[in-house]
Order: sequence, then C-alpha cells, then structure tokens
Amino acid sequence: VIGTEKLPLTVDEVDTPAVLVDRKKLVANLRQVDEIAKSHNADLRPHAKTHKSRALTRLQLERGAVGITVAKLDEAGALSDSCRDIFLAYPITSDLKALRAMDYAADFDLTVAVDTVEGAEALSRAAKKKGLISQVLIEVDCGLRRCGIDPEDTEDFTRRLIALGAIEVVGVFSHAGHAYGALSSDELREIARCEIESVTVAADKARKAGADIRVLSVGSTPTILANLDELDNVTELRPGNYVFKDRTQVELGVATLEECALTVLTTVVSTVGGNAVIDSGSKTLGLDRGAHGNNATDGYGLIESRGMIVDRLSEEHGVISGGAPRLRAGERLRIVPNHACVVTNLTDAMYLVDGDEVVSRLEVDVRGGGR
Ligand SMILES: Cc1ncc(COP(=O)(O)O)c(C=O)c1O
Repeated sequence: VIGTEKLPLTVDEVDTPAVLVDRKKLVANLRQVDEIAKSHNADLRPHAKTHKSRALTRLQLERGAVGITVAKLDEAGALSDSCRDIFLAYPITSDLKALRAMDYAADFDLTVAVDTVEGAEALSRAAKKKGLISQVLIEVDCGLRRCGIDPEDTEDFTRRLIALGAIEVVGVFSHAGHAYGALSSDELREIARCEIESVTVAADKARKAGADIRVLSVGSTPTILANLDELDNVTELRPGNYVFKDRTQVELGVATLEECALTVLTTVVSTVGGNAVIDSGSKTLGLDRGAHGNNATDGYGLIESRGMIVDRLSEEHGVISGGAPRLRAGERLRIVPNHACVVTNLTDAMYLVDGDEVVSRLEVDVRGGGR
C-alpha cells in the first residue's frame, strides 16, 4: 500500500508499476519556463492538472509562480492549502458548482472561466447570495474549437456579464490545445501567434465594454515553448505539462526524450508466445495516443533504453509485440509515457528520484477529483 509503505531507498527497491519523477529533469523543465516567463515579463500560473500535487504546487510557487490554474473545483479545494490564488480554467454552469465556487472565493482568491451567459448568471446568482463579486476571465477560442467565444464577440459578451451585477471581468484567456496537432514547427508557431492575437483582440474589446482588463492569459506547453517575441503582449502563461514533458511533446518537436522527467517503472511479467508482457496496462499508462484526441503517437509508451514500443494494452498488461527474445521475465524497464498528465491521475503517488536514489514520495493529492 503506497500510502503507508516505508520509503524505498533506491529505485531497485521500488515495486512496480511505479511512476518516477527525475528531480534534475524536473528542475530543468521548471527553470526553462521560469526563464521564458521572466524574459517576457509575464506571470506564470502553471496548470496543476498535470501533477495534482500540493508539493509540486509549492515548488512552483517558491520559484515565482503567481498562482496556479486548475480544471476542476476538486483541484482548487485540495490544492488551496498550498496556493491561495487559483484560476479555474473551466466553465461553471450549474448553481451547485457556482455556490461551491463562491464558498471557495470567500476563502481564497478564485477566478473562474466564463464563456456562456448562463454560466455567468449562475456565478452572479451565487455571488449575490454570498455577498461577493465573482471575478471571471472570459475564455476565447483561438482554434481548438472546444470552449471559448469568438474574440470578436467579446465586447457584447462583456457588457452582458457586467449587467448581471455581481461579475467582474478581470481578464481574457485562451488555450491553443490544437497546437498538439501541428505538423511542423512553422504551423506550431502560427498557432502560438493566433493564441496571443486572440487574447489581444478580446482584451481590447472587453475594455471597450468598460472592463478593467488586467489579465491576458495564454498557454499550452508547446505554444509557450515556442517562445515567440509576441509573448511580450500577454500578462500570464499557463503551461501544465512542461514540468514533466512526455512522448507527445517529443513527437511534436518541442522536447527531447532526455528532458522527460516522468517515467513509468515496469517489470516484464511474461515472455511466452514471443511477446514480452509488462505489468503496466491502461490503468497505469492511460490510453492516450496524444493530447486532445490527436492520435499522433504510435503505441502507448516508449522503452527508450531498448528502442521498443508498448504497442498493445489491457487494463493490467502491456504488450511489447515480438519483444520476448530481447527481454527476459523479471527484467525492469522504464517507459516514457505518451501523456504524463494522464499517468499521474492514475496513481496515488509518484517517487521523486535522483539517479538511482529515491528522494521522496510525491502524493498525487487530487487523484481523480473530477468535480
Ligand atoms: C485551459 C487550459 N489551460 C492550460 C492548459 C495547459 O496545457 P499543457 O498541458 O499543454 O501545458 C490546459 C491543458 O489542457 C488547458 O485546458
């Protein structure tokens, strides 16, 4: 039971499957984005969905992050004892959630995403009930076609929000998740440019409607790592995956395998029939073949030391087809997963390691936490 086990001293003593985080690589990844933020005079508000960890939240804040971004109220609640300034980058449309959000807003700084009048109405109702003003960021779409209004519509939308009486529009944000589908670095840079442009346009329009816009927020890991000069025009960066990186970032060309801080330690459990079978299946590695439904990656993880791919998963089994002659039962391997954010959500805790030494256990404090 990972919660009560004695901390292993070395990686050899760690039972599998286990999620390892390499301390030096983690720190290098943090430093890289800290420097990008500094060089553009932008605040860093990392997305904590990647690690769901109080300890890593604290580390990001100690290094200068102004707060964190979360996707769910569960994450906001659980991480609020580490961070008192949280942006919920996810729309709320029910009274149930709006009231919960306003309970949180009475306790710590909580800003909420809005892209529908119905959502804003729910927030305004809840805020009035609690005697608060709900601070919101308007989400604008820059091409992902998930959430977010057309930036051109921001002026009228802002007016409608202000008219509700208990909403303060403090900023605008966008998320270029479609960057994960970019086929070239030129295309990626163009998407990063559009992300910045969309919040710049939206901020101008919201100001015309009378809002005091302080926050122009952008972010996905690939668009931040593109490090465009135009980032000077925004006030805030919201990357999440950058702390760990993964095969998806490598395939996209914005990271190297050596930079991937998170790996899955696994054991070969069978070699009959020519395949090598490992003890990490979909309940450890996840089924993602890329982010946002992009199936850009082959297989479910890379065993870098052998140049082999986990090409088939059941829940508790991973299959390396034809792997048996080269791998023996009992052998331990490290896998670079396709999507690190999903892997953390599937484990209770990770191990922070420095070479072969286990430094500490990193609890995944909001595992699941989907509300
Ligand atoms: C709204 C929003 N902001 C920021 C991020 C962080 O993106 P990434 O994990 O690519 O850094 C995400 C991730 O999905 C997101 O949905």
